[in-house]
Amino acid sequence: MWTKESLHDLVTEKLKDYLFIVVSNREPYIHSYSSGQIICQVPASGLTVALDPVMRACGGTWIAHGSGDADREVVDIDNKVSVPPADPRYSLRRVWLTKEEEEGFYYGFSNEALWPLCHIVYTKPVFSESDWNSYKQVNEKYAESILQEVGDRKAFVFIQDYHLALLSRLLREKNPAIVTAQFWHIPWPNRDVFRRCPWEAEILDGLLGNDLLGFHIRYHCSNFMDTVDTGIEAKVDWERYEITRGGRTTAIRPFPISVDFENISEGAKRDEVLAEIERLKKRLGIGDEKIGIGLDRIDYTKGIPERFKAIDCLFEKYPQYKGKIVFVQAGVPSRTHVKAYQLLNKEIDELVEEINWKYSEGHWKPIIWLREHCPPVTLEALMRMADYCVVSSLHDGMNLVAKEFVASRSDEDGVLILSRFTGAARELADALLINPYAIDHFAEAIRNALEMPFEERQLRMNKMREVVRENNIYKWAADIISDLVKFEAGR
Ligand code: F6P
Repeated sequence: MWTKESLHDLVTEKLKDYLFIVVSNREPYIHSYSSGQIICQVPASGLTVALDPVMRACGGTWIAHGSGDADREVVDIDNKVSVPPADPRYSLRRVWLTKEEEEGFYYGFSNEALWPLCHIVYTKPVFSESDWNSYKQVNEKYAESILQEVGDRKAFVFIQDYHLALLSRLLREKNPAIVTAQFWHIPWPNRDVFRRCPWEAEILDGLLGNDLLGFHIRYHCSNFMDTVDTGIEAKVDWERYEITRGGRTTAIRPFPISVDFENISEGAKRDEVLAEIERLKKRLGIGDEKIGIGLDRIDYTKGIPERFKAIDCLFEKYPQYKGKIVFVQAGVPSRTHVKAYQLLNKEIDELVEEINWKYSEGHWKPIIWLREHCPPVTLEALMRMADYCVVSSLHDGMNLVAKEFVASRSDEDGVLILSRFTGAARELADALLINPYAIDHFAEAIRNALEMPFEERQLRMNKMREVVRENNIYKWAADIISDLVKFEAGR
């Protein structure tokens, strides 16, 4: 079983001569002003939730966009701040982006082109030349910051996600001694879909600047290999899952990402969490009702409207649940500058209003909609007080809410309703697996969750807990580092 200690030992032994640098667009801690004071928040991001415990265990430097309005106030002359603030374990080095860069690089090319292109949810990608230019420019900016940080030392740079597809190539051109691995946190679609991107060749070439390229599941690795095979000049070795281009080889591997199981499991037992459950129930007016929860970044890939339609369908078919159950949906606003997200928020508001109007009786209403950034203790309380949790993504690389929910249930209770179209569904076979597009079946799954006897809930939850306990975030990081070291040694 991998732990933070054994991961630390692995890094100390295998990467002893190397600087350890993680790079992502989203930063793990955001400083902002609230009523004149500087506060520090953690963003709603699977990526940062997963990587923060790895960095706490390994130390090193995390380079990311400084997106908070007070971020500049707390950094030193090298744009660095030690984090976590209460117990510093590593350095966060911030990269500053102009408003125009944020617009073209983040909202534009990353989230209006690559995000819908890689998720099969029927939202059309928008390809704009100026967004692409901004994307290239910001990848260069990240490269400069990394090269400055590395200087003439040896370094292992671990790049995250689709925002930085050109980075490893840029680093290799300037400093070929830097070892890079990249993890793509979202799905990789089939080659016919990816061909729609006018800059397909540049993106593939950029990613092949890495020594190791990871996806959540083998299917995404195969899609990537296939896209390269037909998209650009390269030798694709299907037996070894390696691609050689311009004399350098990149290994392509699946690494299902996970969470810090023990920490979440232990944390959920704290008195503070139990007190928060009481406080929340009072605040939300919840009594004896059975509770369903959804915890999401408000994104059109998450299947939030489908979830509400399933609740509507459940009450249509089984009106006896009126007044007996309640669904608490916590949603963190995200990318609201993008039109598709504005439309989604409107659709969700209208659906909630309509369903609550249709079924509410007295002070009871079926859906409690919390559009807010809940503090960690509130999220822990929601997971712990739920009778069932719904993850209904239309398409998702992994989905860590599913794994966090399982990890938090040290009471061995609670049912997970999980979309088949998440990476997590490959590992969590004891969830109630659903197709979120099939609303009637989805409603039946909610009924199953509500009616499931305790023995079955316990059995299913324990099996899922074993899977997440063993395949935790430390194993994920250790597998990547071990593979990289093996691959480097074999060259
Ligand atoms: O997990 C996919 C992902 O895009 C992460 O890369 C990102 O941190 C997270 O979702 C949240 O999105 P954003 O960083 O755009 O807020």
